[in-house]
Amino acid sequence: MTELRLALGTIPLGTTVEERDSFRILDRFVELGGTRVDTADNYPFWQDGCTGDESEATIGRWLAARRNRDAVVLSTKVGARPRTPGDRTLDDVEGLSASAIRSAAEGSLRRLQTDRVDVFWAHVEDRSVPLEETVTAFGALVADGTVRVLGASNHAMWRLERARRIARDLGVAPFTHVQLRHTYLQPRPGVALPEGGHTLATGETFDYLAAEGDLTLWAYNTLMFGAYTRPDKPLQRIFEHPGTTARLAVLNEVADELGVSANQVVLAWLVAHGVVPIVGATRVEQVEEAVAGARLSLDAAVVDRLDAPA
Ligand SMILES: NC(=O)c1ccc[n+]([C@@H]2O[C@H](COP(=O)([O-])OP(=O)(O)OC[C@H]3O[C@@H](n4cnc5c(N)ncnc54)[C@H](OP(=O)(O)O)[C@@H]3O)[C@@H](O)[C@H]2O)c1
Repeated sequence: MTELRLALGTIPLGTTVEERDSFRILDRFVELGGTRVDTADNYPFWQDGCTGDESEATIGRWLAARRNRDAVVLSTKVGARPRTPGDRTLDDVEGLSASAIRSAAEGSLRRLQTDRVDVFWAHVEDRSVPLEETVTAFGALVADGTVRVLGASNHAMWRLERARRIARDLGVAPFTHVQLRHTYLQPRPGVALPEGGHTLATGETFDYLAAEGDLTLWAYNTLMFGAYTRPDKPLQRIFEHPGTTARLAVLNEVADELGVSANQVVLAWLVAHGVVPIVGATRVEQVEEAVAGARLSLDAAVVDRLDAPA
């Protein structure tokens, strides 16, 4: 089986999706060839009665029950956990100091019931800490085997470039993964996203990725919470502009021609552009649809047609 370019998003696992169903979702993903499981040390802290431990702890119990740690590419993040339990905002988070990074890594390992993380991300920027300190602390985790590779999520490209140069100068492992919000529809330029902390991939992101060659983009919110296919999930207002009408027309045309869902065309289009899409599934059928989409190969002419409307 060829490598499946897809990551399973896990925000609701163990909370809105109860544990037994969460295990089924994880089982099915792995059964279908999935490896990448994306979580964070704060999912879902913003929900009633939650601390932010829940997603990682659920995955940890699943890994322990299935004894399949080696079959999974475990991806988790540090930096955006509120320092005060019960705080539902991102106003006072752990951040990216050396001590915050080290202690968050320890917490994640404990909850995930593992001795290593495969992809460890800076979840959001922390400009209050010298970048040298952050880069050194992340590099140390790679050097001691706690972490395999590093990623930067929700970072401006200039900060990523600067962090990578510092890592080179210091001789430590650099960020090689980028996680940003990206899907087929394009929000109106300059629009404020309703979700705090979210940062969009832009033309500059792709320019930088193409120039560097050693960076992989993982995209989140790829299915826009289900809005491509579900009337109960209205399109967000950030997409209100004529380009959306044109993109949706081509998307639905291609989906009809290929006999697949619009979600699947979106995921196949992302993969065709070298992206690893993350999909947050809350049912086994959603996992199956996403896996088939990520495995769908689009002809170059179809990709060009999808690219054309802006
Ligand atoms: N780095 C970051 O800052 C960041 C930010 C956000 C997310 N993420 C990662 O990305 C993952 C996904 O993010 P997301 O939840 O914002 O985006 P998403 O994947 O676009 O949306 C997930 C939701 O879409 C619906 N859905 C999934 N598959 C579907 C299908 N085949 N048909 C119809 N609806 C479907 C489900 O809604 P229902 O549950 O209502 O069925 C699901 O909860 C997260 O779990 C997390 O791992 C990272």
